[in-house]
Amino acid sequence: MNKYIIANLKMYQMPDMISNYLESLKEFNNEKLILCPSSVYIPYYLEKGYHVGIQNIYFKDVGPYTGEISPLQAKQLGISYVIIGHNERKLFGETDHHINQKVTAALENDLNIILCIGETLDERSNKETILKRQIHSALKNIPQEKIKNILFAYEPIWAIGTGIIPDIEEIETMIHYIQTVCHEFSSDPIKIIYGGSVDEKNISTLVQMKNIAGFLIGSAAVNPDKLIKIIEVTREK
Ligand code: PGA
Repeated sequence: MNKYIIANLKMYQMPDMISNYLESLKEFNNEKLILCPSSVYIPYYLEKGYHVGIQNIYFKDVGPYTGEISPLQAKQLGISYVIIGHNERKLFGETDHHINQKVTAALENDLNIILCIGETLDERSNKETILKRQIHSALKNIPQEKIKNILFAYEPIWAIGTGIIPDIEEIETMIHYIQTVCHEFSSDPIKIIYGGSVDEKNISTLVQMKNIAGFLIGSAAVNPDKLIKIIEVTREK
């Protein structure tokens, strides 16, 4: 079974990088490869038949919200996933409550969600409590049958962009914990991916983890050669 590979391209890609990127990944295109470019580039990705995720979404469908993109717009354009709860959005004041509003709106529009959860370094000794709070808040009032449309991305905040990753055992323990908490909300299988400094070097270790559904990759996914290496290693498993 292939793993989900979610490429979070953040604000790294410049216009002159796009055509090579789209060309390079052609033969690896499949429904578990989700590319999340800057929103302005999304139509180029859709035209080439890639599965696209948007990096952020608003929680209203239509209205006077300058600069925002709605889940209804995303869905009608052909976008299939949305990243919600990424730590870098918290710089713009995003709270647990906003995340719940976004999750609700995205699911109402039949978008799939990549829901980021994770603890800061200070919270590390207490991470179960933090993750439980984040999951409980994000899933508040979400219909049980919709939870299968969420990919839970365990991303320790201290591992994002730092080159430091937790021990495999630590991630496996957290996957198990997240599964247990999510099963309070739904008895469907829960898909959990890992994110935070995944690259073409550590992927062969990370892919050995039990019960991991895939990976959320930031800076390493910007270079198509590195991303292809990651895809190839995960395919071998
Ligand atoms: P990174 O980013 O792979 O550059 O650490 C991951 C993420 O922020 O989703």
